[in-house]
Amino acid sequence: MKVLLVNGSPHKEGCTNLALEEVSKILEKNDIETEIFWLGNKPIGGCIGCNHCLNTNNRCFMDDKVNVFLDMVPSADGFVFGSPVHFASSSGNLTSFLDRVFYGRGNLFAGKAFASVVSCRRGGATATFDQINKYALISNMFVVGSSYWNQIHGTNRQEAMQDLEGLQTMRNLAQNMSYFLKCTNFSHSNGINKPTYEKSIKTNFIR
Ligand SMILES: Cc1cc2nc3c(=O)[nH]c(=O)nc-3n(C[C@H](O)[C@H](O)[C@H](O)COP(=O)(O)O)c2cc1C
Repeated sequence: MKVLLVNGSPHKEGCTNLALEEVSKILEKNDIETEIFWLGNKPIGGCIGCNHCLNTNNRCFMDDKVNVFLDMVPSADGFVFGSPVHFASSSGNLTSFLDRVFYGRGNLFAGKAFASVVSCRRGGATATFDQINKYALISNMFVVGSSYWNQIHGTNRQEAMQDLEGLQTMRNLAQNMSYFLKCTNFSHSNGINKPTYEKSIKTNFIR
């Protein structure tokens, strides 16, 4: 079992990464393999809605970290997307990344575990948390929770390390995700498979 953790901050070792490391530590302790995937600090372009990826086996025409990540998705059972709060939303890079990763990609993610974690100095954490969770909730994924909404507070890593409740929230999240992954793994080996879905109906609110 493997969980991919995405750091959507321009800071490789900042507050968001600290939160992800705390999640990762407990997952590893529970025998779940983890990998932290940093988006980097160069701009990631947004989706231009060209639909190229829908006809090319999940390849975006912008050949950047999105394609690298899409190649990794099939081998992962769970995902944790982390972002700093930028104006009460996720970072521009993570928003662009998630738009392009999830667009038309329900099949790739269905039945897998999802969590988001956010870091902020003071405000906008729950708005950002809700924003990121929406990608999962339209992709037949299972959103894993914790003992609080998954947020850590600080302007930098040193400050975030003092947020003991935030760090504990990350550890509890990891315990819940480990439990969920072990349960689903056990049920798949005992004949209870992932749900199957009807062919999708798209009415666009006009008919
Ligand atoms: C462009 C920008 C916008 C920000 N907006 C907010 C905000 O709306 N609310 C807040 O509490 N902190 C805000 N911050 C502070 C960061 O969210 C905070 O320092 C975060 O923990 C940094 O995480 P990182 O080290 O992973 O980048 C903002 C920072 C930047 C650079």
